This record gives sequence, structure tokens and C-alpha cells, in this order.
Amino acid sequence: MTCEAYQAQYRAYVTMTEQRLQVLCDRYLPQSTRIGQAARYSLLGGGKRVRAVLVFAACHLAGAEESCAVDYAAALEMLHCYSLIHDDLPCMDNDDMRRGRPSCHRQYGEAIALLAADALVTAAFEVVANAPLAAESRVSAAAILARAAGARGMLYGQELDKQFEQETANEQQLLTLHHHKTGALILAAVQMGCAAAGADAQVTAQLEMYAREIGLVFQIVDDVLDVTSTEETLGKPIGSDAENGKTTFVTLYGLEGARDLAKQHNDAALEALAPLGKRADFLRLLAGGLLVRSK
Ligand code: IPE
Ligand code: IPE
Ligand code: MG
Ligand code: MG
Ligand code: MG
Repeated sequence: MTCEAYQAQYRAYVTMTEQRLQVLCDRYLPQSTRIGQAARYSLLGGGKRVRAVLVFAACHLAGAEESCAVDYAAALEMLHCYSLIHDDLPCMDNDDMRRGRPSCHRQYGEAIALLAADALVTAAFEVVANAPLAAESRVSAAAILARAAGARGMLYGQELDKQFEQETANEQQLLTLHHHKTGALILAAVQMGCAAAGADAQVTAQLEMYAREIGLVFQIVDDVLDVTSTEETLGKPIGSDAENGKTTFVTLYGLEGARDLAKQHNDAALEALAPLGKRADFLRLLAGGLLVRSK
């Protein structure tokens, strides 16, 4: 697969996601409510849509037509967007910018932002429940999403993230934190793609190994960019981690050490794809893209 073909495919997946999100917003997040307006403001306001792209790519790799996974991709982006709204609140990271615009609570106030995020979680599960796929697939997808988002997944990561503002995390604790706060939804992305496709256990297991590695790469690079990028490029404040006294891969290893570690996890991700041959080319290029991303 050429770099151009990869980029065109990525853009096509993003377009499929955006178009579906628009339809689903009209169905589940009424514009006549402040909650609906705030949820749409955050959900339709950009983002790389990496998790949605992973849902599509896993579904395709598992041998199914990607479009069948569009509601799972959209639901996961809704869930992710809720996590970002809460993450920016004053009681969490207290960040004023997100995706190049005032964060949800800066635009709509804390109460509405809180509720809009809640509305996105519930809408995500409604979307999964009503997706035009077999009931068995929908039950699996709902269970995957709940597991990944909840107190044994992303939310636990956020708890640890707050805890290690007060205490310094060691390497093992930081890995656990990142596996949960960011890795869990990235793992859910490939699992939901597999659930849409009815993938066999072997393919699912390889993709899960891949996802665990790129989940770490993703957050290590996020930590690096918080130090090296600009607010203009990133669309969110830089220096937020230091300001909140967080332990990150940069505070533990320095910039070069963090970059090296990201490279090692990228290598491990590629290794996980090796048995899948050429059909995993899109995911190989995606992993490489996450390693060198600038936003
Ligand atoms: C930001 O996620 C939060 C993290 C888990 C690091 P993204 O970098 O995927 O944010 P968007 O969706 O592209 O805005
Ligand atoms: C956020 O991690 C992870 C979740 C939202 C679950 P960060 O706090 O590092 O994300 P950014 O940097 O604000 O996007
Ligand atoms: Mg945070
Ligand atoms: Mg944050
Ligand atoms: Mg960050």
C-alpha cells in the first residue's frame, strides 16, 4: 500500500464517520436542547477520528465490508468525546481549549458540559443497540464498550491520572495508567471492528496485541506533544501536564527516552501484525503515523 493510498483510505473512513455522526446527532442529540447543542459542538468539532478509523480497519481486515461497522465507529467516537469533555473540566485537567476551540465547559458552562458528556455516553449505547447488525454482534459491542469505558477501563485510568498528580508514579504504575486511560478505548476499537465483522478468534487476538501496543504509543506521543508542540498545532493547551504536576513518560524518561519507548512499542505493534501479511498494511501505516504525528 502506498502512502497516498493509505491517506486516501484514512480520509474516506473519516468522511464515513463524520457523515454518520451528523445523522445520529439529528436522531439522538436534539438541537432544541442546550445539552444537544453542547454535545454537537464537541462531537462535530473535528478530531482525528483515530478510534473510528481503527474500527473500520479491523472490520475490513477481518473480511467484512467496512460500512457495516459505521455505527460502532460513531458510537466509539461519541464515547471518546464524552471522555474529553470531562477530562477538560476544572476538577480534572482544567483545560480551556479542545480541538482548536474553547472546551465544552468554557463555551456552555460546567453544568451543561457535564450533562452533554453524559448524553454522549448514553447516546453511544443507544447507537450500538440500534445498529443494523445481528443482535449477537450488538450485545458483544455494547459489552466491549462498557468494559473499556468503565471503572475497569478508561475511568480507572483517569482515577490513576488524578492520583499521580499528588504522588509520583513509577514505570509500572504509569504503564497501568496509560493502558487504562487511553489504551482501553483503542483496544475497544479493534474489538468492535471484529465484532462487526464476526472475526475469528485468531485474527481478533492478533489485533488486540497490536492495539495494546499502539495504545501506549498514542499516549506516550500525547505526553511528548504536551511538551514540544504548540497550542495552535495541537488545538489544546500545551504544558497542561506539567501545570497539573502529572507523572508522564516525559517526566520519567525525558523527551528522548519517551520517544525511544514509543518506537519500541511501535515495533511490538508491527510484530503483532506480522502473521496477518499484506492485508494488515493499512494498520502498519497507521501505527507509523501515530508514532510521528504532530497533532
Ligand atoms: C486525546 O485523544 C485524548 C487522549 C487519549 C490522549 P485524541 O488525540 O485522539 O483526540 P482527538 O479525538 O483527535 O481530538
Ligand atoms: C486524556 O488524557 C484521556 C482521556 C480523556 C480518557 P489527556 O488528559 O492526556 O488528554 P489531553 O491531552 O487532554 O487530550
Ligand atoms: Mg487528562
Ligand atoms: Mg487532558
Ligand atoms: Mg495529554
